[in-house]
Amino acid sequence: MGTAGKTITCQAAIAWEKNSISIEEVQVEPPKAGEVRIKMVSSGICGSDDHVLKGELPMNFPLIPGHEGAGIVETVGDGVSSVKPGDKVLTLIVPQCRECDACLHSKGNFCDKQDVLPCSGTMLDGTCRFSCKGQKVYHSFRTSTFTEYTVVPEIAVVKIDDAAPMDKVCLIGCGVPTGYGAAVNSAKVTPGSTCVVFGLGGVGSAVVLGCKASGASRIIGVDINEKKFPWARALGVTDCLNPKKLKKPVHEVVMEMTGVGADFAFEVIGHTETMLAAWNSCNYSYGVCLIIGLAPLDSQLCLEASKIVSGKTLKGVCLGDYKTRDCIPQLVTDYLQNKINIDPLITHQLPFDKLHKALELYHTGKTVRCVLLF
Ligand SMILES: NC(=O)c1ccc[n+]([C@@H]2O[C@H](COP(=O)([O-])OP(=O)(O)OC[C@H]3O[C@@H](n4cnc5c(N)ncnc54)[C@H](O)[C@@H]3O)[C@@H](O)[C@H]2O)c1
Ligand SMILES: [Zn+2]
Ligand SMILES: [Zn+2]
Repeated sequence: MGTAGKTITCQAAIAWEKNSISIEEVQVEPPKAGEVRIKMVSSGICGSDDHVLKGELPMNFPLIPGHEGAGIVETVGDGVSSVKPGDKVLTLIVPQCRECDACLHSKGNFCDKQDVLPCSGTMLDGTCRFSCKGQKVYHSFRTSTFTEYTVVPEIAVVKIDDAAPMDKVCLIGCGVPTGYGAAVNSAKVTPGSTCVVFGLGGVGSAVVLGCKASGASRIIGVDINEKKFPWARALGVTDCLNPKKLKKPVHEVVMEMTGVGADFAFEVIGHTETMLAAWNSCNYSYGVCLIIGLAPLDSQLCLEASKIVSGKTLKGVCLGDYKTRDCIPQLVTDYLQNKINIDPLITHQLPFDKLHKALELYHTGKTVRCVLLF
């Protein structure tokens, strides 16, 4: 009945090459074994999508971008047992296969079935489910959410609470667990601590939420775009710094403001210079620096080796260190129970056919998170 087993023709955004995107009619094949076809309801625009669109990750074009999605399962392929047609689901940029070394380790979450580092642009079997005008179209991060329908491996999909408001919870697929989780789960920010957050976009704002929820007494927000400051203050940032307007390097200003350096520093931009600034803003002895931003793949981070011995910690964080399928549904429930309020992160919601307007708002720095609605 309906569309089961059939190819679906629908609208999707295709990035033909870097910095070139248009909405096209595409064909979406039925899911193969172990895959799920989803009717998208909403998708956030994440900084990682911007890296893809600018060609900063070695991905195959043409591709359908997007990964921070919420939708309803349309059909499932053979052997799929964790979701069924009609379920509300989120798509996951980092899957959880429950078989690989990272999934089996108590602390690991960077599943080796992920398609971020390196990127293949395909499903797990090496083929694609999308085509346009007879041409194969690649996936991005095995999710591809800027489309009315997508196909995703079962290990990169999770069922969520039936009561979830689908126009908002897409953020709990990536930005919220990444930022909020970096603070509450990875750093375990302590009450009364001082935090500094470099980058006040969607993910950095979720870091602020997590620092505030953990009882940080001072949260210093750093961004070169001052349009972000009022939103950041509303979330709990106590001091805003624009490095372009400072007379000294920002880490020196943070050191002066705090006297001893920050307890926790978060880099949520993806530049090596701001990673160094975050590292140098931490207390020498007990400071913890968390790297969340995705730097260009060939870049190197160069630290003063002698300073490491003083005791501070450098830690990379992927998706808040959460095992995604195990933990993300609980974050949705926490939101429904008013334990986390993600609403202030969503500054704009636009219909999918206004994609270019949404990307313009993102590129001109006028949003925290913009959500596309299908
Ligand atoms: N580790 C993970 O699991 C994970 C998950 C999601 C996103 N990310 C990465 O996190 C980063 C942020 O994502 P986002 O969605 O918040 O992006 P975003 O574009 O919404 O936010 C980035 C912010 O950084 C600011 N900025 C840019 N250059 C700056 C500079 N030199 N100094 C200070 N501020 C600067 C921008 O004005 C913007 O407010 C990206 O690199 C993304 O790829 C990582
Ligand atoms: Zn795995
Ligand atoms: Zn993301």
